[in-house]
Amino acid sequence: MAERKKSLLSLHVLLPFALPQLLLFFNVHAVAAAPVTQEASEAQVLLAWKASLENHSLLNSWSLHNNSNATSRESKRDSTCNWLGITCNVAGRITRINLFNASLRGKLDNLNFSSFSELTILNLSSNALYGTIPAQIGTLTKLNFLDLSVNQFFGYLPLSLGNLTKLTTLHIYENNIFGSIPQEIGYLRNLAELAMYTNLLIGTIPPTLGNLTKLTTLYIYNNRISGSIPKEIGYLKNLINLELSTNLLTGTIPPTLGNLTKLTTLYIYENNISGFIPQEIGYLENLNGIILYRNNLIGPIPSTIGKLKNLTELNIFQTQLSGPIPLEITNLTHLTKLYLQENNFLWPFTGTIMPQRTTNKIYCI
Ligand SMILES: *[C@@H]1O[C@H](CO)[C@@H](O)[C@H](O)[C@H]1NC(C)=O
Ligand SMILES: *[C@@H]1O[C@H](CO)[C@@H](O)[C@H](O)[C@H]1NC(C)=O
Ligand SMILES: *[C@@H]1O[C@H](CO)[C@@H](O)[C@H](O)[C@H]1NC(C)=O
Ligand SMILES: *[C@@H]1O[C@H](CO)[C@@H](O)[C@H](O)[C@H]1NC(C)=O
Ligand SMILES: *[C@@H]1O[C@H](CO)[C@@H](O)[C@H](O)[C@H]1NC(C)=O
Ligand SMILES: *[C@@H]1O[C@H](CO)[C@@H](O)[C@H](O)[C@H]1NC(C)=O
Ligand SMILES: *[C@@H]1O[C@H](CO)[C@@H](O)[C@H](O)[C@H]1NC(C)=O
Ligand SMILES: *[C@@H]1O[C@H](CO)[C@@H](O)[C@H](O)[C@H]1NC(C)=O
Ligand SMILES: *[C@@H]1O[C@H](CO)[C@@H](O)[C@H](O)[C@H]1NC(C)=O
Ligand SMILES: *[C@@H]1O[C@H](CO)[C@@H](O)[C@H](O)[C@H]1NC(C)=O
Ligand SMILES: *[C@@H]1O[C@H](CO)[C@@H](O)[C@H](O)[C@H]1NC(C)=O
Ligand SMILES: *[C@@H]1O[C@H](CO)[C@@H](O)[C@H](O)[C@H]1NC(C)=O
Repeated sequence: MAERKKSLLSLHVLLPFALPQLLLFFNVHAVAAAPVTQEASEAQVLLAWKASLENHSLLNSWSLHNNSNATSRESKRDSTCNWLGITCNVAGRITRINLFNASLRGKLDNLNFSSFSELTILNLSSNALYGTIPAQIGTLTKLNFLDLSVNQFFGYLPLSLGNLTKLTTLHIYENNIFGSIPQEIGYLRNLAELAMYTNLLIGTIPPTLGNLTKLTTLYIYNNRISGSIPKEIGYLKNLINLELSTNLLTGTIPPTLGNLTKLTTLYIYENNISGFIPQEIGYLENLNGIILYRNNLIGPIPSTIGKLKNLTELNIFQTQLSGPIPLEITNLTHLTKLYLQENNFLWPFTGTIMPQRTTNKIYCI
């Protein structure tokens, strides 16, 4: 009481002189009030989600136990920003949620995404999360990394993913997602990695993917994708890894793939691709691996293959290829795996296929 009286008194004495400063002080507080409330609501939203989870045994730190009135920036710092997997910016807003392999089981339905307007990373990979991916995820417009891989999500991909235009990485692989790849993915022009493999995706590859010119990795393998490989894939000039294997793709290999000169892997095995291997494949001088086995290809191996000096694996067994093996194949001095069996090639081959045969090389012809 004595303390309080004293400070009141000094305030009274100071007041006439300090009025402008005091007004300024109150103004600053009024401005700061908005984020303070948002900080608190971010914590409440996370707690509501935690409460809805069937397993959150590793989220013990997610608690306002000691400061249930966590409305100030300081208490927020002391609590929410130190919770497992949570990172804040200087204003105390949550910028990262990284709960990789955190033993979470449950759904996302009770996670109110619209509260996290500063979020740049959401990593929920390798948990036991299920249910559908809520359309509301499209409100996370500052997101750079979205990783929902290795869970049990099902249902369709929400079209609102097309609103996450800052995304550079989108990992949805190893779930039970069905339905088709939304053409809205084509709006994600900053995307460098798109990995949707091992799901139940159907429908065709949307030609709008051709707008993702920053893509370096495109993994759509192990789904039930049909239709042909769109020629627009040839616009993805920065692509390094292209894996479309184990789907139901038909049609031919588009010659436009010859523009993907940074490509190191070209995997299209286990599909129903027909037609010739385009001679443009010879432009892909950085290729390490060509794996096309189990398709319905026809015609010869193009002689341009001899230009692929870095090729270590050429795997084309069980296609319908025919004709003589091109002599140029002898120039592929880095080849360690060569699978040519179950085709209609003309034998014998007159060149020396195995220039540097050693025990760690596999040649099945
Ligand atoms: C809450 O208080 C207990 C005991 O007073 C302490 O051990 C614990 O670290 C506190 N938790 C937080 C999040 O401050
Ligand atoms: C929270 O605020 C209420 C009312 O202002 C107060 O009664 C309560 O003790 C506070 N709880 C904590 C943990 O500070
Ligand atoms: C996930 O965490 C468990 C321990 O909880 C650990 O044994 C396992 O190796 C981790 N998995 C990965 C992929 O990090
Ligand atoms: C929850 O996860 C923990 C850590 O992985 C595990 O030990 C526990 O058995 C799980 N609980 C249930 C109910 O599945
Ligand atoms: C989600 O949070 C926003 C504010 O961030 C609020 O307006 C909205 O009502 C909340 N939605 C639900 C379902 O709680
Ligand atoms: C998610 O976290 C794991 C473990 O740290 C990491 O391997 C993975 O690359 C992260 N995902 C993204 C998209 O950064
Ligand atoms: C993006 O968000 C706006 C509103 O914020 C919405 O009207 C639009 O449908 C969304 N677009 C997509 C592709 O989800
Ligand atoms: C790329 O985007 C533009 C404008 O949004 C559109 O007109 C064009 O058709 C798209 N190209 C592809 C290949 O989807
Ligand atoms: C590569 O792209 C250019 C223009 O971008 C085009 O004119 C050319 O035909 C393409 N080449 C192939 C092999 O697709
Ligand atoms: C692949 O194509 C052939 C004809 O080209 C057809 O007979 C076969 O059923 C197709 N297989 C699949 C799995 O679509
Ligand atoms: C081949 O590989 C080497 C070493 O891995 C690399 O330096 C080179 O750029 C690659 N591409 C070509 C066309 O040689
Ligand atoms: C192999 O490469 C050399 C130059 O690297 C070239 O002169 C020769 O014609 C090539 N041989 C074949 C069969 O392509």
